[in-house]
Amino acid sequence: MEYLNLISGVTMIKTIYFEDNKVKYIDQTLLPSTYKVVSCSDVRELEIAIKTLAIRGAPAIGVAGAYGIVLAALSYNGDDKEEFFKVIKDGEKIKNARPTAVNLMWAVDRMMNVFSRIKNQSIDEIKKELFLEAERIRKEDAEINRKMGQHGHPLISTGDGVLTHCNAGALATSEYGTALGVIRAAVEAGKKIRVFSDETRPLLQGARLTTWELNQDRIPVTLICDNMAGISMRRGLIQKVIVGADRIAMNGDTANKIGTYQVAVLAKENNVPFYVAAPISTFDPKARTGDDIPIEERNKDEVTHIQGIRIATEGIDVFNPAFDVTPAKYISGIITEKGVLKPPYDKSIKELFS
Ligand code: MRU
Repeated sequence: MEYLNLISGVTMIKTIYFEDNKVKYIDQTLLPSTYKVVSCSDVRELEIAIKTLAIRGAPAIGVAGAYGIVLAALSYNGDDKEEFFKVIKDGEKIKNARPTAVNLMWAVDRMMNVFSRIKNQSIDEIKKELFLEAERIRKEDAEINRKMGQHGHPLISTGDGVLTHCNAGALATSEYGTALGVIRAAVEAGKKIRVFSDETRPLLQGARLTTWELNQDRIPVTLICDNMAGISMRRGLIQKVIVGADRIAMNGDTANKIGTYQVAVLAKENNVPFYVAAPISTFDPKARTGDDIPIEERNKDEVTHIQGIRIATEGIDVFNPAFDVTPAKYISGIITEKGVLKPPYDKSIKELFS
């Protein structure tokens, strides 16, 4: 299979990359039954892929946003610079595809800053520089994930059951993963562990993606429904919780997939350490607390149906927030590429940015 080969015992899942002037990505709506790499040469199509979660996970949609600017630039074949600039400005709209994961805005803003700096160059040079910047964003993400793995894996010991929620793995990043990157690093360091994966309703990222991804690496994983985390902790099956993040406020409050908050409360109640793994690009200097983080609400069909099959009463009222905010007081540590931040987070996060 394309980009799914074993490299020294660890599968290389390449979620998103650029080849032949096209963005190639694994369509995550089809997993685990179908592994399909889609080619995309149109920024509006890429935007739809983000909205429909064909590409998902905070760092992965950041990379997609950056590549979206490249696709916009490449779509222009004329020599009128003003027209070219309009096409790129229009491409920038991709940053509104989803509101919660700040990595999307962060990556698109980074591309637009480069664009502003090199506006005086030729159209061909601008296209080339934008491509190089997007490639840097993708490669940096892969390197950062490995660094987080190195900083984070000492928190995991042989014999641990490690609960994770949603998918914060290779599929949610350019490769390797954040929370699953820490788990991969622990396994690479020879630790014998078992992962517990919450199914993660409504869209089942845990059941469909995390179990698939860990299976590729032969990392032992047990699937549980979201309402089984409590009994799993009480029975002593879970020693650590590690999740990813979509946006972290300056006081440490963390937005992640809906259901993360209740896992954090259960972890506190059961004296289980609860860790967040996220790159620095996931921190939002403009969000003072979790109240400043916009929470995406999605279509009610995601709740009333599972994989196209109705499971709820027709016409029923639905509330479908895609994320929730875990207050900082429940978080034992935040694993970043620069090390593990400890409470009080307003202080440790301030130091990170100074
Ligand atoms: O709606 P999704 O699937 O994009 O949500 C993804 C998550 O909540 C992940 O946990 C988060 O983006 C971190 S991914 C490294």
